[in-house]
Amino acid sequence: MALSFTVNGRKVSTGSDPLARLSEVLRQEFGLTGLKEGCLEGECGACTVLVDGAPVHACLMLAFQAQGRDIVTVEGLGGSGTLSSLQAAFVEDGAVQCGFCTPGMVMAAEGLLRANPAPGTEDIRHALAGNICRCTGYENIVRAVSAEAERRREARA
Ligand code: FES
Ligand code: FES
Repeated sequence: MALSFTVNGRKVSTGSDPLARLSEVLRQEFGLTGLKEGCLEGECGACTVLVDGAPVHACLMLAFQAQGRDIVTVEGLGGSGTLSSLQAAFVEDGAVQCGFCTPGMVMAAEGLLRANPAPGTEDIRHALAGNICRCTGYENIVRAVSAEAERRREARA
């Protein structure tokens, strides 16, 4: 039986093994290689996507669990060839080094900002606690998310 769900605003269906990891289906069948497969155990956060608006480790979700859900990957944030403002904030604040963690980190941050428009530093650290970065020491990442939260608040004012 084909599975149907929405990816980055587009309705898709797949005949993938219903027990395949969602991360694998998104990368291999749909070519969405922005999300990374690191630990495959729910520990590193490199595979984070939004499912119905909330951050989820796609390596821990099976394909059948995506049935009817709304999935957003990092490719769905910006325009074609354009960074989203959150992604741009990461670049501006030096929150990207090797970049392996960055798509997952951005998606976890995007989930936070959608749920909490005014996060404090501790809120940001808590929201990103499931995402490991070996390079940046996290300070610049927290600063970038905080700057983006402020920018969005100003845009809404
Ligand atoms: S690859 Fe999914 S949490 Fe590490
Ligand atoms: S930038 Fe290298 S792991 Fe985060």
